[in-house]
Amino acid sequence: RACNIESRGALIVLEGLDRCGKTSQSSRLVSYMEGLGHSVELLRFPDRTTNVGQMISAYLLNQSELDDHTIHLLFSANRWEKRSMMETKLKAGTTLIVDRYSYSGVAFSSAKGVDLEWCKAPEIGLLAPDLVLYLDMRPEKAAERGGYGDERYEHLEFQKKVAQCYQILHDPSWKMVDACQPMEDVQKQLQEIVLDHVLACQKGKPLSLLWS
Ligand code: TMP
Repeated sequence: RACNIESRGALIVLEGLDRCGKTSQSSRLVSYMEGLGHSVELLRFPDRTTNVGQMISAYLLNQSELDDHTIHLLFSANRWEKRSMMETKLKAGTTLIVDRYSYSGVAFSSAKGVDLEWCKAPEIGLLAPDLVLYLDMRPEKAAERGGYGDERYEHLEFQKKVAQCYQILHDPSWKMVDACQPMEDVQKQLQEIVLDHVLACQKGKPLSLLWS
């Protein structure tokens, strides 16, 4: 078996603009890891199934209006309400593949003009990912891909600002993957990087907290 009782799972986050392929790649990664016998689960933020998540969903669908700070805190609360479950699963040896996390929270809110440090503050103390995979795609290219839906942030001009904010957040520990390649090639690259990190976590790399 790939996991033994002492080894923890890895916290792996996929980030990128809307329509860059995160959601498909996340679920493919889960299937791949399961196929290798790893204990693995898929999470996504926002998690629209909770009470907080339903408020977020209504906002994204333009069914409600909220102050920029208020919605920011709701996105953050939506991560906090999953924090202890995530820690328990990681410690039990389950790897979590997470479709969006705090970086989306900070990038999207700061793209609206909310102060960057203010945006980070409520995220302090959440579990830090072991790996951030950034699916890199120009906003124009992402916009062409099957088009945007009707959700609040799915506009080219706004996505350009989000891309700039991601640039400010990204550090050398992020793995940038060119998301314009054929899906299978993107998938292969992600698989290799993820396997390396899962093994490092099994060897005892400690869990850490945001922002570090
Ligand atoms: P989704 O399309 O991946 O479900 O994400 C919904 C939108 O919410 C997407 O445009 C990104 C945005 N978002 C934030 O603004 N803050 C956050 O913390 C998260 C997780 C997503």
